Amino acid sequence: MQKIIILDFGSQTTQLIGRRVRELDTFCEILPYNKFPADDPDVIGVILSGSPFSVYDPEAFKIDLSQLRGRYPILGICYGAQFMSHTLGGRVEPAPSREYGRQNLSFIDTDNPLLRAFEMGSQVWMSHGDTITAIPEGFHCIASTESVKYAAYWSGDSIWGVQFHPEVFHSTQGSLLLKNFVVDICGSRQEWSAASFVDTTVAELKSQLGNDRVILGLSGGVDSSVAAVLISRAIGDRLTCIFVDHGMLRKNEFHDVLHDYECLGLNVRGVDASEKFFADLAGITDPEQKRKIIGRDFVEVFNAEAKKVEGARWLGQGTIYPDRIESLNITGKVIKSHHNVGGLPKEMNLQLCEPLKWLFKDEVRRVGRQLGMPEHLITRHPFPGPGLAVRILGDITPERVRILQEADDIYIRAMRDYVCEDGERLYDKVWQAGAILLATVRSVGVMGDERTYEHPVALRAVTSTDAMTADWAHLPYDFLARVSTDIINHVRGVNRVCYDISSKPPATIEWE
Ligand code: XMP
Repeated sequence: MQKIIILDFGSQTTQLIGRRVRELDTFCEILPYNKFPADDPDVIGVILSGSPFSVYDPEAFKIDLSQLRGRYPILGICYGAQFMSHTLGGRVEPAPSREYGRQNLSFIDTDNPLLRAFEMGSQVWMSHGDTITAIPEGFHCIASTESVKYAAYWSGDSIWGVQFHPEVFHSTQGSLLLKNFVVDICGSRQEWSAASFVDTTVAELKSQLGNDRVILGLSGGVDSSVAAVLISRAIGDRLTCIFVDHGMLRKNEFHDVLHDYECLGLNVRGVDASEKFFADLAGITDPEQKRKIIGRDFVEVFNAEAKKVEGARWLGQGTIYPDRIESLNITGKVIKSHHNVGGLPKEMNLQLCEPLKWLFKDEVRRVGRQLGMPEHLITRHPFPGPGLAVRILGDITPERVRILQEADDIYIRAMRDYVCEDGERLYDKVWQAGAILLATVRSVGVMGDERTYEHPVALRAVTSTDAMTADWAHLPYDFLARVSTDIINHVRGVNRVCYDISSKPPATIEWE
């Protein structure tokens, strides 16, 4: 399949470039700047990302352009554009003031294929400390703003550079620019789609797995669910799914999700191990210790169940592309490689089967829809593996979990029911939401004629694109008022509701 290679020079927005290219139904791979694949016949073009460095930094990441020039169309974005200009004989200098934010193009060469159909005044997003003050000989300036002369340039052959960021939302014609590059200049046939992905992946899984058996741990989340449905399309009941109830799932979640899985035709075993988890967590208040105990118990329960599946040779996982992209830190070292498979017994000798390993989250959702999965499974908010255990401050008891489940259920159901003015559900506007039981805190209240002395519940809702950073969601007051009243009136043990208005960083999404 045709592909675009995106060489990552360490920019915050590199993944976003990847997502935009995929939106053009074109496959792409994000690779560290120095890992260009030597002989890959499927490559049709190369994009060089931005970078935290200036081209003058001694540690700045550099590549040998002669390996690429003339072989593929190249688009440099921000640092990528400055690096090419600097290397090929142009001049890059510190900008008089940092060029940051929205600007408008005041000159555009719309005859150039990169800028075809661009509109005069088109808004672009700049973010750089250096600026190109001269382009190499023979190069052409193809766009400018009032303050940035070389907003975009063309080499006359196969190189283009833009000092703005077409991948970000604030560059209003950024997607058009990327389409011009990927489709018109590189010649993408736009053959990457959810339907083609399902067809090719099911065929590949059939040949990869043959008559083997596969086991897979389901979490209720979208990634493991979509992975399971894909694998079962290929091998049917030779896939055994295991869904462990650690007792700290949301209200009714174990039964509801198990029912969904059965309706999807999955061969699934639900294991209620809640007693074991509650026993092992009794009296534990330290968040890290809670997480460790849950992780350990989970592996134990999963393994015991997995061993009952005779002849299993593969472990299916819902790993997605962002889990695997090697991200670079400022020293060029890999700061995130890949998760490993925690604690599976070596004697089972399982190979990994990860059918979603090339997909971004939004693509996983599209594949889920293509597979006919119910919308409520596909649009579910992320939920932490340790579940409500990390949303109860203090030690965990079945009663506290019950209280939190009730409060959380009122909150999340109300969020699903609330339709905003633009017709979208509040639930779909929010990345993730949940209630937290502050079991270490008590406050005074009155109910009827009675004085109460009970626990507060904190509500959390955040907007985010990747959970790396998050902002607190500005929920409507009427919504908050109703949820607060409903929780205090209906959940015994709670007499106060607070709303968490911390962003990440410095707070995290979960409280523990
Ligand atoms: P934080 O709290 O670090 O969370 O801002 C970032 C995202 O990760 C989720 N999260 C977890 N997911 N196991 C998981 O599968 C965990 O132990 C875990 N802890 C946090 C969190 O809900 C948020 O989406």
